[in-house]
Amino acid sequence: MANLKPCVFSCCILACIICAVALLCVWIASLAEDTCSSGGFRRAAVSADSKDCSDVGMKMLQQGGSAVDGTIAALLCTSLINPQSMGIGGGSIFTIRNKTGSVKVYNFRETVPKSFQPNLLNDCPTTFGLSLGSQWIGVPGELRGYEFLHRQYGKLPWAKLFEPTIRLAREGIPLSKYLAKILNIPMVKGIMEKSSLCSHQLLCDRNKTILSQGDTLYFTKLAETMETIAKGGADAFYTGKIGHDLIQDIQAAGGTLTMDDLRLYKVQVQDAWTIPLGNTRMHIPPPPAGGALLGFILRLMEGLKEFSLTPDSLSVKQRIQIYHHYIEALKFANGQKRSISDPVFNGMSAKHLIDPSFINRIRKMISNQTHENSYYYSVKPPPDHFGTTHVSVLDEDGLIVSATSTINQLFGGSIYSPRTGIILNNELSDFCGRTDTVRAGEQPPSSMTPVILELESGGILVIGGSGGSMIPTAVASSLMNHLWLGMSLKDAIAAPIVYVDTNNNVNYETGFNKSVKNGLRDLGHKEGTWKFFLNVVNALEKDKGCIVAVSDERKFGVSAGY
Ligand SMILES: *[C@@H]1O[C@H](CO)[C@@H](O)[C@H](O)[C@H]1NC(C)=O
Ligand SMILES: *[C@@H]1O[C@H](CO)[C@@H](O)[C@H](O)[C@H]1NC(C)=O
Ligand SMILES: *[C@@H]1O[C@H](CO)[C@@H](O)[C@H](O)[C@H]1NC(C)=O
Ligand SMILES: *[C@@H]1O[C@H](CO)[C@@H](O)[C@H](O)[C@H]1NC(C)=O
Repeated sequence: MANLKPCVFSCCILACIICAVALLCVWIASLAEDTCSSGGFRRAAVSADSKDCSDVGMKMLQQGGSAVDGTIAALLCTSLINPQSMGIGGGSIFTIRNKTGSVKVYNFRETVPKSFQPNLLNDCPTTFGLSLGSQWIGVPGELRGYEFLHRQYGKLPWAKLFEPTIRLAREGIPLSKYLAKILNIPMVKGIMEKSSLCSHQLLCDRNKTILSQGDTLYFTKLAETMETIAKGGADAFYTGKIGHDLIQDIQAAGGTLTMDDLRLYKVQVQDAWTIPLGNTRMHIPPPPAGGALLGFILRLMEGLKEFSLTPDSLSVKQRIQIYHHYIEALKFANGQKRSISDPVFNGMSAKHLIDPSFINRIRKMISNQTHENSYYYSVKPPPDHFGTTHVSVLDEDGLIVSATSTINQLFGGSIYSPRTGIILNNELSDFCGRTDTVRAGEQPPSSMTPVILELESGGILVIGGSGGSMIPTAVASSLMNHLWLGMSLKDAIAAPIVYVDTNNNVNYETGFNKSVKNGLRDLGHKEGTWKFFLNVVNALEKDKGCIVAVSDERKFGVSAGY
């Protein structure tokens, strides 16, 4: 009994200490919350091409939807805001990491129909240009993919994902600054004015004049189609009335797709390939996606001593060294494009591109000089092109989606289906320059590379891009700038890129450092005249409980989150 008092006393002190520590923790936690709210999000985020569609995705997440629900809703929305980039007449590649860290790739890219034009590849453009015409239409996989993923990961009802887009399609949307910019490119304008997108008054007014910024775009027919699919599921498209209407329109335009092609379409599921980049692990989509090219480029760049510096401490000379090395890597990557193809048909795997001994061999071939002879890089690369969209999404439960979606080039091959309001893809032109044969059911090779990285810090980086042939360089530069040169994600994406075209000429995006450019010229790199820097990267990073979401300003994108 005599000892009771000191005990009560010390217990009291102990309790006080515990309370103080707890209060301190709460205080620190609230500080962290404050830091996060000043720039990042705490729970979930969506980085799509446009503010409208990032918002649509985020609202799904806020209503209890999963990252897959958010992605599907954001993509449906994007098919209206950026109808030149993607839509339900196209296909996608999704890389998804679940809560326990398993990463899978869902490939619902278009396939070659059972019957297709003989000697199709004879129609391939020999110079840069859009591939127009119904012979390039591949079997659309978009909605089968959404359905497949929604069954596995969806939390909201299927129809709910379509609601915001159906509303927008009916009410009409102001033609965006970005789309106005695209439609003002003389080559694009000329083609669109003559296309069925204009004659059916999707992109043109009654007088057949191309709409301009601020004019209203209406998708009345597409709204009806989406309503039917919202009610009837993907079957309405693959075996039902929408499919029949679509096939009729495709055949009227001279295309060869049949209901059988739609009915037999299947989603492919693969394990992601995982490669180390220092202590970071990068999950990439295997062929026919372009992940191996991105992995190849980054592995060639890894370990460059200049990367231990920050952009501020880099001298012009060091920058020239980095870019010289990078341009050489891009030339070798061009030479390897032909090794990406549909593994189901070719067995040919691009695995060597991420094999350390192959990478070492190529790294040894990169010296202080460049080479006139393109055979040094074994280049016989395909024609350049552009198009596509990317969405990065992360939800509260830790499900992560990196999704790249496309109808291939701008407005696909500009074939519009008046009965359904759907714009058809021209995906089969992706075979051009990449292969000598085409088989029914085969998927064309792609540059698309939706990736997910697990960082040394324990953080997660979700990234991908659009811009056709420019995707690998756009994503690689963003990653190098951010991971190795310490630039913020926003600055890393905004920094002007270099693009090595099919002739191995080096093209610099506006704003690229002039001194560095001059240095590269002195090293013998020839400059090209590429004008279409339609490269766009959308990414998000979650680290220490904060999410930084970045949508590329090149497409006037804005992310959303909470
Ligand atoms: C994640 O995926 C793996 C492999 O498919 C599966 O075994 C695991 O149960 C999944 N985890 C969750 C939380 O769904
Ligand atoms: C179409 O052209 C007519 C005659 O030039 C003009 O009066 C009318 O305003 C134009 N309509 C639109 C939608 O531009
Ligand atoms: C190019 O970069 C260097 C630093 O690496 C900088 O000193 C110089 O001002 C830059 N030049 C231009 C034109 O921005
Ligand atoms: C290449 O250039 C770097 C930097 O100027 C120099 O350190 C290196 O010795 C050169 N290597 C060769 C093979 O000339």
